[in-house]
Amino acid sequence: MKKSILLIIVYTAFIQLSIAQSQKIVVPGGAVDPYHYTIEKSKVYTNAAVACAHPLASTIGAEIMKQGGNAFDAAIAVQLALAVVYTNAGNIGGGGFLVAKQANGKTITIDYRETAPKKASRDMYLDEKGNALTDLSLFGHKSCGVPGTVAGLFATLPYAALPFKTLIQPAIDLAEFGYSITEGEASSLNATRKSFEENSTAPTALVKKGEWKAGDTLVQRELAETLKRIQDKGAKGFYEGKTADLIVAEMKKQDGLISKKDLKNYTAKIRSALEFRYKDYTVISMAPPSSGGIILCQLMKIMETKPVASYGFQNVKSVQLMVEAERRAFADRSVYMGDPDFWKVPVKTLTSDTYIQNRMADFDSTRATPSTGIKAGNINESEETTHISIIDKEGNMVSITTTLNNSYGSRTVVFGAGFLLNDEMDDFSIKPGVPNMYGAIGGEANAIHPGKRMLSSMTPTLVLDKNMNPLIIAGTPGGTTIPTSVFQTLINILEFGMNASEAINKPKFHHQWLPDEVMVEKEFDQETIKQLRAMGYTVTERGQIGRMEVIRILPDGRREVAADPRGDDAVNGF
Ligand code: GLY
Repeated sequence: MKKSILLIIVYTAFIQLSIAQSQKIVVPGGAVDPYHYTIEKSKVYTNAAVACAHPLASTIGAEIMKQGGNAFDAAIAVQLALAVVYTNAGNIGGGGFLVAKQANGKTITIDYRETAPKKASRDMYLDEKGNALTDLSLFGHKSCGVPGTVAGLFATLPYAALPFKTLIQPAIDLAEFGYSITEGEASSLNATRKSFEENSTAPTALVKKGEWKAGDTLVQRELAETLKRIQDKGAKGFYEGKTADLIVAEMKKQDGLISKKDLKNYTAKIRSALEFRYKDYTVISMAPPSSGGIILCQLMKIMETKPVASYGFQNVKSVQLMVEAERRAFADRSVYMGDPDFWKVPVKTLTSDTYIQNRMADFDSTRATPSTGIKAGNINESEETTHISIIDKEGNMVSITTTLNNSYGSRTVVFGAGFLLNDEMDDFSIKPGVPNMYGAIGGEANAIHPGKRMLSSMTPTLVLDKNMNPLIIAGTPGGTTIPTSVFQTLINILEFGMNASEAINKPKFHHQWLPDEVMVEKEFDQETIKQLRAMGYTVTERGQIGRMEVIRILPDGRREVAADPRGDDAVNGF
């Protein structure tokens, strides 16, 4: 692997790097200019396509595939690139899920969700009176779960074709020599400045003297050194040795719990996919410890028995049905879903046709069903995360959602290692009935326990057509809005006949049982809102919901790829 050919580097530990604007990040056989790039939102490619949260990362993914890498190579290189250029959610200090279908028909799902440290305990976020201390699970050292991303990358490697050293080099170069930040990134870094200063114990590359502005170069030299240790030593370059020492030293500076043993013992897990039929289609998504696949299955199966297309797109009839389905699925989430290694999740029942259709027995098409009247079914479970959709020329499909939880996670940068740690502990139910950052309520199934994975909503998803050929790759960030966003996007394509970019550009709505309200994006149809209110629904406008990345395979085999307009998300391919 050729190393980057950088001509001029001026660096001191105390000043931001100023770098010649002609440098390139070298990927095998090609060069990517990290200082001049454009954002492509949607395109049709013949061979391979990537959609993700940053144009530099999608370009690197496409270049890797042009040079003989497959979708798994691209998945590794894109995640590592996002760990550098999409600092608020791309990560090596967080975790995620991969759902893939190889061209040979094999399904692969990898769980690299964070775990609670060994020293974690059920009531660790309660004060002596039993009140929940929600800031502690959201910010700073104590909010961090044991990171899973690097283990996930190495669990993906057996399916890749190129050496890991090649796949990580673009990320190292981006961190070492910097890249131009976008306007969105500049304002997000400026807005989080105070929180970085409060939760990091030393100055970090993410805080600049003065305000960040679009076009500034962000250099992350310590992160580059950490990535080089991973390049040289593999997963041990993160979970053992110097990086582990730095993480544990950072933990000790405050009241963080992650130990060397926690890091050494972390393992990614191969899970069975959550697979179900929707009409003639096969949908493949993530099983627990994500709630995403089960919720998506329940929502889609409720639609299966109704002529939703005939109701009309975002007509009050179709929206009401979808809202009531969402209400019931989230009630189940709060009781039945958690880490399957610690809690028996009744997956078979929750996804069975009979159970799901019974859940709608009290549905009334003329009025809202109050959430107080809905309990979990009776059985004898800054919204910053990021999604990557990839297909290669052979037809290998990869769908990955990965997260630090909150935007920039715990806001704690590991001193000397240059990366942000997650605040994923907030995804546990820190006290029954106390909502987490997303307003989600939980109980025993998702209580904190050492070594346990916190319940997720991430829903990396694939859809196959009736001949089991690739049809859709989809996913999004957005906390609890993730399964509902994936659901609405799939319905937009499969029922309302939209193409990928139409499907993701439409305004979204969301209901999660509690709070009992329909949240809608600003652009949502005002007439539908009026009619919902007349039926007894509380409808509240909120900020953007999700950032979908979708690839749709056209009948002639070409790949239509679309990145969400709600951020700097971009597509690339060839
Ligand atoms: N941290 C968001 C999720 O996993 O659902």
